Amino acid sequence: MTHDVTQLSKKNTRHRSIILFFCTLSGLSCFSVLAEYADVVLNRNAEFNDMPPVVFPHWFHRIRFRCKVCHHELGFKMRAGSNDITMGDIIDGKYCGMCHNGEIAWSVDNCELCHSGKPGLKTGMQGSNETSGPGRW
Ligand code: HEC
Ligand code: HEC
Ligand code: HEC
Repeated sequence: MTHDVTQLSKKNTRHRSIILFFCTLSGLSCFSVLAEYADVVLNRNAEFNDMPPVVFPHWFHRIRFRCKVCHHELGFKMRAGSNDITMGDIIDGKYCGMCHNGEIAWSVDNCELCHSGKPGLKTGMQGSNETSGPGRW
């Protein structure tokens, strides 16, 4: 798994240079594109309830699933910090729990894989153009 993550990061860097190259050529603003590569910290409820903040590797997911799976079908609003998510929802199969159920992806028992943030991390995008998944922030 560690190996996979390293390879993915390398790929990410390459993709980024390609995107930046086209941005420069076309003169378009590419900030919104780059935001898709970041990690999202979710900490509206976690630390308040004595759990470390959640780090959601957006890029890791968006290369595997279409935007509409999460932002339409699963109802994730497209603004960092705008979703009020509880663990009860997730265990009921909503939000992250739609996939992290031991079938599509590893189950909710793996608390520390999602609750991997360092204490005090604020809700919002982290890293803007990087992603590293668990353990980075
Ligand atoms: C698939 C990812 C994922 C896993 C695995 C996971 N959580 Fe969470 N958890 C979240 C998200 C997302 C939130 C909402 C974070 C926020 O906005 O503050 C959350 C919130 C919470 C909260 C605060 C909200 C509430 O309902 O009280 C607690 C407590 C919590 N999780 C405990 C746990 C425990 C204990 C485990 C392991 C048994 C666990 N979580 C596993 C993603 C996960
Ligand atoms: C696996 C689920 C998933 C997929 C697939 C996904 N997203 Fe997201 N996205 C999220 C979550 C979760 C958040 C954070 C919501 C929060 O913090 O409450 C988010 C946040 C965002 C944000 C807000 C960034 C900010 O700065 O506030 C944007 C923009 C976004 N996504 C765009 C996209 C686009 C475009 C795609 C497809 C290319 C996509 N997402 C695919 C789950 C997903
Ligand atoms: C549409 C399905 C889907 C949703 C929704 C989803 N995930 Fe995932 N997630 C996956 C899959 C598939 C993997 C890869 C599992 C594997 O490698 O076995 C994954 C992997 C991860 C990883 C590990 C990434 C890595 O670098 O190995 C984390 C952390 C994670 N998810 C957190 C979350 C959190 C937090 C949420 C909710 C905010 C969420 N996921 C919502 C499908 C999803």
